[in-house]
Amino acid sequence: MLNKENVLEVLKDVIYFPKGDNIVALNMVDNLMVKDDAIRFDLVMEHANDPKNDILVNGAKRTLTEVFGEVNIEIKVVEEKTALSKVKHIIAVASGKGGVGKSTVAANLAIALARANQRVGLIDADIYGPSVPMMFGTENERPAAFEKDGKAVMMPIEKYGIKLLSIGYFVDANRPLIWRGPMATSALNQLMNDTLWGELDWMVVDMPPGTGDIQLTLAQQYNVSGAVIVTTPQKVAFADVLRAAMMFKEEALQIPIYGLVENMAYFTPSDMPDKKYYIFGKETGKGFADQLGVPLLGQIPITEKIAECGDAGTPLALDADSPVTKAFDKIAQAIINKDNG
Ligand SMILES: Nc1ncnc2c1ncn2[C@@H]1O[C@H](COP(=O)(O)OP(=O)(O)OP(=O)(O)O)[C@@H](O)[C@H]1O
Ligand SMILES: [Mg+2]
Repeated sequence: MLNKENVLEVLKDVIYFPKGDNIVALNMVDNLMVKDDAIRFDLVMEHANDPKNDILVNGAKRTLTEVFGEVNIEIKVVEEKTALSKVKHIIAVASGKGGVGKSTVAANLAIALARANQRVGLIDADIYGPSVPMMFGTENERPAAFEKDGKAVMMPIEKYGIKLLSIGYFVDANRPLIWRGPMATSALNQLMNDTLWGELDWMVVDMPPGTGDIQLTLAQQYNVSGAVIVTTPQKVAFADVLRAAMMFKEEALQIPIYGLVENMAYFTPSDMPDKKYYIFGKETGKGFADQLGVPLLGQIPITEKIAECGDAGTPLALDADSPVTKAFDKIAQAIINKDNG
């Protein structure tokens, strides 16, 4: 007889081989409806657009038809709800080079996005040298952890309206972190997946320097909407920037690059706020962006204030009157527009 119970019984014969169990036991059958001669349900898959899903869908249809005959079967593949399923965009702030200001740009960009009424999270993917706790003055905070559905989950720290998480909240900030590659990627996965992020428009990811395991893990395992590449105007920086950009563009990853941010683009003395000294040339950043074929999203000056504010836990973009804030607002707006256009 065609009813819900019997359909579920039959679906227990459909095995999902990658996980070695049947689709009912694996909780992959959702919203089952059985009516007259019709069967309808959602098949919950890790990735909704994996071409291999069809094999499983067809297998399920065949198994049901064998038992119930010519019934009307409708199976909709839906993506598994994860900690990140209510996060609209993941944006990676990256550079091939260390110390160019990735973390500074990530923190101030997060604040500028929040000012533009976006819901924002900032995750510190620099497992080896975390900087988010200090930049947000939250070194002494510890994320709350509890159990949900038998799994340990964390709550992000909230500051200036931004949800933050960093490995730095769990380790001694003054001790260098020595991890083997797999440990570092598993730490990143925990920060991403075992956290109650809730609804976010943007998850800004502060990347470690280079093009290593962490970068690959993020690019391959997560649905990254785009990358912001940070550079300084020195010519020696460009080779590294190019390498980072190439990684994202690579065929297997195909992550769009929102554009380039030229940090430390010019110097403005505090007593002459209208002067701009382009020590490394005025068009250097633009030239880099042109060579990469991406937009130059903005130029950030080198000023003591940026470093001071970073150290004090109050990113400069919180100060509505600072010209630096206007630069970050412009970058945030360009990214928002890009994603809506
Ligand atoms: N525009 C700027 N003006 C002045 N100081 C800056 C500027 N941008 C960054 N800094 C300072 O330079 C240092 C390095 O910046 P930051 O930590 O953001 O770089 P990073 O690329 O994230 O480094 P890492 O590769 O170590 O992660 C910090 O002390 C920061 O305060
Ligand atoms: Mg950094």
